[in-house]
Amino acid sequence: LALAILLSGGGSNAQAIMDACRSGALDAKVRIVGADRLSAGGLDRAAAMGVDHFVVDYKGILQDTEASSVYPPPPDLDLGDVLKKQHLFPEDRASEEGCVSEKVRHFFMRRAAAERMLLDALLPFEPDLIVLAGFMRTLSPYFIDRMQQPGELPKIMNIHPALLPAFPGTDGYGDTFRHGCRVGGCTVHFVDYGEDSGPIVGQAAFPILPGDSLEDVKRRGLEEEWKLYPSCIQLYAEGRLVLENRPQRSGAVRR
Ligand code: GRF
Repeated sequence: LALAILLSGGGSNAQAIMDACRSGALDAKVRIVGADRLSAGGLDRAAAMGVDHFVVDYKGILQDTEASSVYPPPPDLDLGDVLKKQHLFPEDRASEEGCVSEKVRHFFMRRAAAERMLLDALLPFEPDLIVLAGFMRTLSPYFIDRMQQPGELPKIMNIHPALLPAFPGTDGYGDTFRHGCRVGGCTVHFVDYGEDSGPIVGQAAFPILPGDSLEDVKRRGLEEEWKLYPSCIQLYAEGRLVLENRPQRSGAVRR
């Protein structure tokens, strides 16, 4: 199984996945690691493991709000379609792009430009699965639709630091801790158009004990993540994941 990893931070999950590939615990190979910022420590980990890596400077691209940007939207961007899939306006008005502000339009166009650069860097490595490991950017329908087709097994996985559907967003362990939960956890799921809302592949839970600090919770959580993520990717590698339709939503289950 050919993997591409995207990350923004220290890359301890990427490390766990690369280690599992090397030890043979995971029947896969990390072909390429990409980051949205130069300062991502995970890039050094990739370099140390001899894995190709690249950066797409999201900040610089998104901050460029000039109409005549040096980062033009990709020619195949259908902005109305992307806005519709992100529920920014009702379906029957999908073609009326004018009903979202210029600012939003520019943000979406710039983000698609960044995503085009991601795709151009990733696709030559022919990844079977895109693995998000602490990638702090939302991938828009523009990117998702170019990686996976509706109805097929998704090709983008994410790890989230909470027991979804509780606590989506950027601070899962913090939100779990502040809520006073007695159990924390992490979730590996496929990526869809929503925020941390795609079909769940696997979860791991751990106790939160009286006297624990947020740092304790994060440490315990990360230790679970390092085991959970490679094991979920291994299920994918073995072809053991199938999508199952549930009444309200889709779930991914083991075969
Ligand atoms: C992890 O807690 C992951 O769940 C979240 O971001 C963190 C990334 O950590 N999405 P690392 O960069 O893998 O060390």
